[in-house]
Amino acid sequence: MHGVQVVIVVDKRGQGTYLHRHWSEAGEQSDFAAVPIRGDFAAFSPRFAHGVNLSDFLRIMQLMHATYPPRVAHGGNLLDFVEISYIDSMSLNTAIQLGIPDVIHNHGQPLTLPQLVSELHIHPNKTSCVHRLMRLLVQSGFFAKTKVHGNENEEEEAYGLTPSSRLVLKDNVTSLSPFVVAMLDPVLVSPWHVFGDWLRGSTELTTFEKTHGMDIWNYCKQNPGYGGIFNEAMASDSQLMRFTVEDYKPIFEGLGSLVDVGGGTGTVARIISEAFPHIECTVFDLPHVVANQPESTNLKYVGGDMFHSLPSADALLIKWILHDWSDEECVNILKRCKEAITSEGKEGKVIIIDMVINEEKDEDDVTKTKLFFDMLMMVMTNGKERNKKEWEKLFLEAGFSHYKIVVSYGMKSVIEVYP
Ligand SMILES: C[S@@+](CC[C@H](N)C(=O)[O-])C[C@H]1O[C@@H](n2cnc3c(N)ncnc32)[C@H](O)[C@@H]1O
Repeated sequence: MHGVQVVIVVDKRGQGTYLHRHWSEAGEQSDFAAVPIRGDFAAFSPRFAHGVNLSDFLRIMQLMHATYPPRVAHGGNLLDFVEISYIDSMSLNTAIQLGIPDVIHNHGQPLTLPQLVSELHIHPNKTSCVHRLMRLLVQSGFFAKTKVHGNENEEEEAYGLTPSSRLVLKDNVTSLSPFVVAMLDPVLVSPWHVFGDWLRGSTELTTFEKTHGMDIWNYCKQNPGYGGIFNEAMASDSQLMRFTVEDYKPIFEGLGSLVDVGGGTGTVARIISEAFPHIECTVFDLPHVVANQPESTNLKYVGGDMFHSLPSADALLIKWILHDWSDEECVNILKRCKEAITSEGKEGKVIIIDMVINEEKDEDDVTKTKLFFDMLMMVMTNGKERNKKEWEKLFLEAGFSHYKIVVSYGMKSVIEVYP
């Protein structure tokens, strides 16, 4: 495949840089050429967010602290900043739970502090606390501070949205608020408190299992409250797949059937089934996850265990699954996928959507986020994020003949693997 890759990097004030590079049929890539963009990205659309991977970029900025504020760059105490930087994440989570971005959005223009306090039904004693919360979130680039004219026509301070806060608006189909809420839930945060002890011990259990007494999948089954939050988080990330499906149609063209392995509540399969009505799509996941999900003419749900057997199809899609599992477990899943491929010759394939660590080519922020996810996988599961060599090893061990990284965008890559 040859073409052009365009990346637009947006800083927290909405200023952008347009980066583009070309690659040839032979796979040779040119260097990125960078062009600063004038203007504000506050009004970006979800498609724009996808095209530039703004969502992933902002997730780095807002959740993972992949960039440090000027204070640190200017020689401030990095350790001081890092050790309390969780406050940025928790403040963002609080703003989402209170619904601050939606209240501002629904108002149609920036809200003053008294208006915000009234809309949020905050106790009057806590007005100054909301001011302090908003002051931090403005500083972090999550909200913007502007001036509006009050009743007496005097200027008042007000809070508006920024590209980051627009990404978590609840009525936005690609809203990332469920992802933020699930990642910052005590269920996922509390295992970190025993991570050090875990490293010293010889236990085979994961840190999550040591904390909760069971693995994350059983935890989600036995605690449907958190199970629902987790599934919603996955679905919110999967919504962005609608752009991948639109922009990379050849991945799906020519297929008669597709199984989304570990497809959760079916967001990705639904998007594919609507874009390609001739593809018979099946969502395969644990029985309690797929129970009572609404089917359509070319979308059905099958419950089971991917380590045992999978429904047959021309293509097996595995999005954000293999990074949850050890190498041995991945080879097992991939073998089950290979057995399930029905098409002859070139058409049959496994489509993997996951991260590929590539420190040489990726921006530092992107690598750092991938390493954050790698740590997350270590604490929550037996899995890890892998580089190209590690992926290749799995494919060969599972008996596949060759593979191709079709596209990499932001944190994720689409890899096709052939029998
Ligand atoms: C990280 S989520 C990814 C969900 C979905 N692919 C997505 O990207 O939105 C992992 C999924 O694997 C499913 N899963 C875990 N163990 C499984 C098993 N043994 N068989 C089938 N599905 C399983 C979980 O229920 C969950 O939906």
